[in-house]
Amino acid sequence: MRDIVRKLYETANLTDAELKALILTDDADAAQLLREYADEVRQRWYGRKVFLRGLIEVSSYCKNDCLYCGIRRSNKDADRYRLDMEKIFQCAENGYELGFRTFVMQGGEDGFYTDDFMCDVISGLREKYPDCAITLSLGERSEESYRRMKEAGADRYLLRHEAASEELYSKLHPSELSLENRKQCLFTLKKLGYQVGSGFMVGAPFQTADHLVEDLRFLQELHPHMIGIGPFVPHHATPFAKENGGTLQLTLRLLGILRLMFPKVLLPATTALGTIAPNGRELGLQTGCNVVMPNLSPVNVRKKYDLYDNKICTGEEAAECRGCLQRRIESAGYEVAQERGDCIETNTQET
Ligand code: 5AD
Ligand code: FES
Repeated sequence: MRDIVRKLYETANLTDAELKALILTDDADAAQLLREYADEVRQRWYGRKVFLRGLIEVSSYCKNDCLYCGIRRSNKDADRYRLDMEKIFQCAENGYELGFRTFVMQGGEDGFYTDDFMCDVISGLREKYPDCAITLSLGERSEESYRRMKEAGADRYLLRHEAASEELYSKLHPSELSLENRKQCLFTLKKLGYQVGSGFMVGAPFQTADHLVEDLRFLQELHPHMIGIGPFVPHHATPFAKENGGTLQLTLRLLGILRLMFPKVLLPATTALGTIAPNGRELGLQTGCNVVMPNLSPVNVRKKYDLYDNKICTGEEAAECRGCLQRRIESAGYEVAQERGDCIETNTQET
C-alpha cells in the first residue's frame, strides 16, 4: 500500500485498481504516509497559507428535491428564509471588516434570485469591493444566466457534481435532475471563464469505491480550480434519515488522494468535516486542505440553512467563526492568508 501512495505522490496518478485499493484500505501506515505527502505537496505550492471564504447563505428555499438534503422542497418542516439585497450587503460589509476578501453567495435553487436581481447584487458588490472575489453557488442555471452574472462581475462558481456515476446520481436525486445537465453546467461555467469548484459527498448512501474512482476520473476531466468534498451527514427529515454517514477516515483519505492528484487545486476543509469530528477541519488542513469557509450569514437564519443534522457554526456571534477558525488554523500549524486566494493555476482551459 505504501508503494501505491508513493506512486501517487510521484506521478499524480494511479490505475483504477490502485485507486480503489487506496480508497478501501484501513492501513494506518498508508494513511500516515498519504498525510505527509499531501502536506508536503500543499506546502510546495501554497506554503502554510490557508485562504478564507466568507459564506453568505442567501436562501433556504429550493425547488429541487435531492434525497440527501435537508432543504429539499418536500421537507415541509423546514423553516425557510431568504436574504434581500440589503441583508446581503450587510453580511458583505461585516465580512469585509473581518478581513474576508472572498464572498460566497450560496443558496438553494430559489426562483426569487432572478438574473436581474443577482446582477444587481453582483455589480453592487463589485463596485464597492473591487479587491474582493465574488463567488456564486446557486445551483444549475442557464448559460445565459451564468454569462450575465459573469459580466456583472462574478469570478467563481461552486457547483458540486455530487456523483459522477449515472447509476449513483440517479439514486441520490429525483428524476428531473440529470448528471448530464450538471456536467454541462460545469463545462459551461469553465468556458465562460469562471474559476470553478466541483466535488462530491463521501460515504453517500449506495456509494461504492468504484463510484469514488469515477468521481476522481471526472474531476481529472473537468480539472476544476477548487474541489469541495465532505462526509455525507444524514438529515432527520429526508429519505436518508436512517442511513450511515460518511466517515472521518475515508474523507481524509480522499482529501489526501485529491491533493496528490491535483497538486495546485484549492481544497476546502469543509463544515461537514468539522461536523462529524471536533477537530475534523484541522485534520483536513493537515491532509492537504488549504481553504476554510467561515459562516457570514446573519445569526438569526443560520440554523435554517439546515442541509444536514448537527451542522456546526450556527452560533450566536457573527465574528465567532472568524476568530474560531483563526485559532484552529494556527493550532493546526498554518496561517491565515490575507489575500483573495485565487488558484495558482487559473489557465487550465487546455487541460
Ligand atoms: N450531508 C453532507 N453534505 C450535504 N450537502 C447537502 N446535503 C448534505 C448532507 N446531508 C452538500 C451537497 C451540496 C452542498 C452545498 O452541501 O454536496 O452540494
Ligand atoms: Fe464557525 Fe468555529 S468556525 S464557530
